[in-house]
Amino acid sequence: MSVPAQNRRVLSGMRPTGQLHLGNYHGALKNWIELQYQYECYFFIADWHALTTGYEDTSKLEEYVWTMAIDWLAAGLNPGVATIFIQSRVPEHAELHLLLSMITPLGWLERVPSYKDQQAQLANRDLSTYGFLGYPLLQTADILLYRSQYVPVGEDQVAHVEITREVARRFNHLYGREQDFERKVERAIKSLGSRNATMYRDLRKDYQERGDAEALAKARALVETNARLTVADRDRLLGYLDGSGIAILPEPEVLLTATPKVPGLDGRKMSKSYGNTIGLREHPDSVTKKLKAMQTDPARVRRSDPGDPEKCPVWDLHKVYSGAETQAWVQQGCRSAGIGCLECKAPLIDKVVEEISGIARRAQEYEDNPELVRGMIAEGCERARGVARDTLDAVRQAMAMNYR
Ligand code: TRP
Ligand code: SF4
Repeated sequence: MSVPAQNRRVLSGMRPTGQLHLGNYHGALKNWIELQYQYECYFFIADWHALTTGYEDTSKLEEYVWTMAIDWLAAGLNPGVATIFIQSRVPEHAELHLLLSMITPLGWLERVPSYKDQQAQLANRDLSTYGFLGYPLLQTADILLYRSQYVPVGEDQVAHVEITREVARRFNHLYGREQDFERKVERAIKSLGSRNATMYRDLRKDYQERGDAEALAKARALVETNARLTVADRDRLLGYLDGSGIAILPEPEVLLTATPKVPGLDGRKMSKSYGNTIGLREHPDSVTKKLKAMQTDPARVRRSDPGDPEKCPVWDLHKVYSGAETQAWVQQGCRSAGIGCLECKAPLIDKVVEEISGIARRAQEYEDNPELVRGMIAEGCERARGVARDTLDAVRQAMAMNYR
């Protein structure tokens, strides 16, 4: 569909759980850094989300928030183009969460797969709380508050975007029918200009009478690319097309980007909970030591045994870091026992150390200048709040609750 890219909003968040690692970087952050130049992006530190599983000890939360802000900036998120903020500094997240909680059936939350999974995984914590059950709805509010079209997340979060769509649909269904809708639609159609107005009516008719999906797509494009329409009129015309009323809260989509598999030191997925990570600002000596000890093809016991890169997590790292030539050298040398595992790891160690030292160096500048970081984030919070307030105004109006 043909919404101009600069009008499409992307939103994503991360929980602050301490220093980021290479898995976070290659699995998410690098992707965000590219997206920020293609879309209007909102990235936030999900400190309230951290509470849903970590409510008992909040003493490290503040430190983790600033660590994450600095990790992001040092890695290349650019507050000049993306809006970077802290969830709890935009209290509208809580208000929208509360309003949405009124219309969300309990069963929808109980059925989210991560609910039971995480309770089982984190069996040492008491997660039989209201906040934990409601966490996907808090995420729903995060997304809908910015009327985001796209949400870049991994597989494990797809179900949360799905529930977001359901809640948005329910909200729009319940509250998307303003008084005088037809009259306002007529006025909006006129404002398209007579040629486009006729085209809009014809396309709508083709869709409504014959279910012509192509006509629907064309009509939507006609509306979405019209720069003269107000946001409210655009929403009315879109809602009038399929009879759904106004999409006060548009349904978002997952933005799936192919990201490389980043193995941890033990060959499992790199994850803080497995203790198999390499930190984004780790000291070169420690990185070198860890990589030297990293798991290889278990069948390659002696130097003289040929190995199989497909069974070796080090190869997965080569796929992330090494060029074609080095990769060919690994393949050939490993299978023929022509190279040893330490030899194989050497160019990788160089690459990882180089990447991490650059990030660590920039991070140090921010660490030395906390006021600068606070200022950038404060500005992001303000900007985010402006957008959040607009959405809540529309929400309150739709719910007939904009009395003062
Ligand atoms: N739940 C996400 C996670 O645990 C973080 C998150 C919170 C998020 N709110 C969001 C991601 C909104 C995308 C959009 O990783
Ligand atoms: Fe893995 Fe490289 Fe050793 Fe082969 S040579 S087993 S790819 S570390």
